[in-house]
Amino acid sequence: MNDAEALKKIAGEAACEFVKTGMRVGLGTGSTVRYTVLELGRRMAEEGLDIVGVPTSIATQELATQVGIPLVELGSLDGLDIVIDGTDEFDPQFQLIKGGGAALLREKIVAQQSKAMVVVADDRKQVDCLGAFGIPIEITPFACDVTISVLSSLLNCDVELRTIEGKHVLTDNGNCIADARIGPSIDDPVATEAHILNVAGVVQVGLFNNMCDAVVLASGEGVSTLMNPNGRL
Ligand code: A5P
Repeated sequence: MNDAEALKKIAGEAACEFVKTGMRVGLGTGSTVRYTVLELGRRMAEEGLDIVGVPTSIATQELATQVGIPLVELGSLDGLDIVIDGTDEFDPQFQLIKGGGAALLREKIVAQQSKAMVVVADDRKQVDCLGAFGIPIEITPFACDVTISVLSSLLNCDVELRTIEGKHVLTDNGNCIADARIGPSIDDPVATEAHILNVAGVVQVGLFNNMCDAVVLASGEGVSTLMNPNGRL
């Protein structure tokens, strides 16, 4: 395991401390929170932890099933106690950019139904100003080139349709993903989110504002938990 992977593992596993028996847990998507899901499965099998989970993607659904976490429909619950998820960037105000794994829509639906959100990250994700990663935006396949053109004018930057090996990336919801190459310049993420959501054809945007309560952060010095002073935990 290389250093970057080791940091993901440290952060992902440490975040399990927030999860207690009886909780309804949102299970995020990505290579960091993957370690959270694996560790929760281990604790259920070996330590008597008893939880139910709601996955934020088909990939996480499959992983959680493999490790024995019982899954339920979000709509069958009266909300979730916590969601643990990864991020692509977080800033000093605990605002996030997510969607590098194309799961942002389900991630945001689940996060909005959770009483608390804990993010797992390594220190490469910590930024002073959001935007270097780009902004992932889920858009409808219908007229996606038109939507991209409108977004490019709105944000005054290149907006690219995400492809892998020449094919459009499709989300679990059958939509496309566009990436806005805005650069580290998002001074007002709340306003930027609202402007993007106002464009017809946009399904959801990977700016997650005022949702994150804590970041479990791994670095070369070890793991620490940054608590949002305005958060719910
Ligand atoms: C999925 O769409 C994303 O929001 C991920 O949670 C995010 O990209 C972090 O993924 P990694 O932990 O793999 O970097």
